[in-house]
Amino acid sequence: MRPKAIIAPSVLSADFTRLGEEIAAVEKAGADWIHLDVMDGHFVPNLTFGPPVIKALRKATKLPFDVHLMVEKPEESIAQYAEAGANHLLVHPEASVHLHRTLTRIRELGCSPGVVLNPSSTLSSIIHVLHMVDQVLVMTVNPGFGGQSFIAEMLPKIEALRDLVDARGLKLRIAVDGGIDAKNAARVAAVGASAFVAGSAIFGHDYAAVIGAMRKAADGADATAVASPRQLA
Ligand code: DX5
Ligand code: ZN
Repeated sequence: MRPKAIIAPSVLSADFTRLGEEIAAVEKAGADWIHLDVMDGHFVPNLTFGPPVIKALRKATKLPFDVHLMVEKPEESIAQYAEAGANHLLVHPEASVHLHRTLTRIRELGCSPGVVLNPSSTLSSIIHVLHMVDQVLVMTVNPGFGGQSFIAEMLPKIEALRDLVDARGLKLRIAVDGGIDAKNAARVAAVGASAFVAGSAIFGHDYAAVIGAMRKAADGADATAVASPRQLA
């Protein structure tokens, strides 16, 4: 059975002059996790925030902080993010040469480890660490910016990952990030994702309405209309 959908607003599209209030507002509107996009201006061509801002935001909500590290050599800063109050620490395999060690360290720090796949990254880059992670985040845009269009060619990759996870009997959660909205959430859920990161689809809109619509689409009262035949078995 498909796990209940997790909706994770990405604050990248929030009003940065009122970040704490924005986080409290999406929590009130039904969000499950808060997705925090850390960018270093090197791994991705954009720069956002780091541990001090996350530490300050920790006071705004009790929801888990899903921290997406788009930084080179994340192993050098994971302890600071753990200390700042991160719950999930997600790293890109290309950014961390000794990925196995980095994921081990994240667990030791008391956080939940996850890996993130860029659109061009293959499943083989994470196949030997899959048993170590609680989450695989599949990027459905190239990371760096909010408001980009969903790359539908990632759907077969999500489905192949789902097959691999099921075949191995792993419990990890498949999440998606980039161009996700209430319209495409059902398609993404049908191929096996159960956590949905969304920035521009939520911020600037009616938070409760969008989060509710995404959850409804993902949990799918009408999942049979979108599920592939294999998933109906
Ligand atoms: C992109 C980030 C995303 C981004 C998603 O690099 O990882 O989390 O905020 O924004 P939308 O939902 O607008 O594509
Ligand atoms: Zn992200």
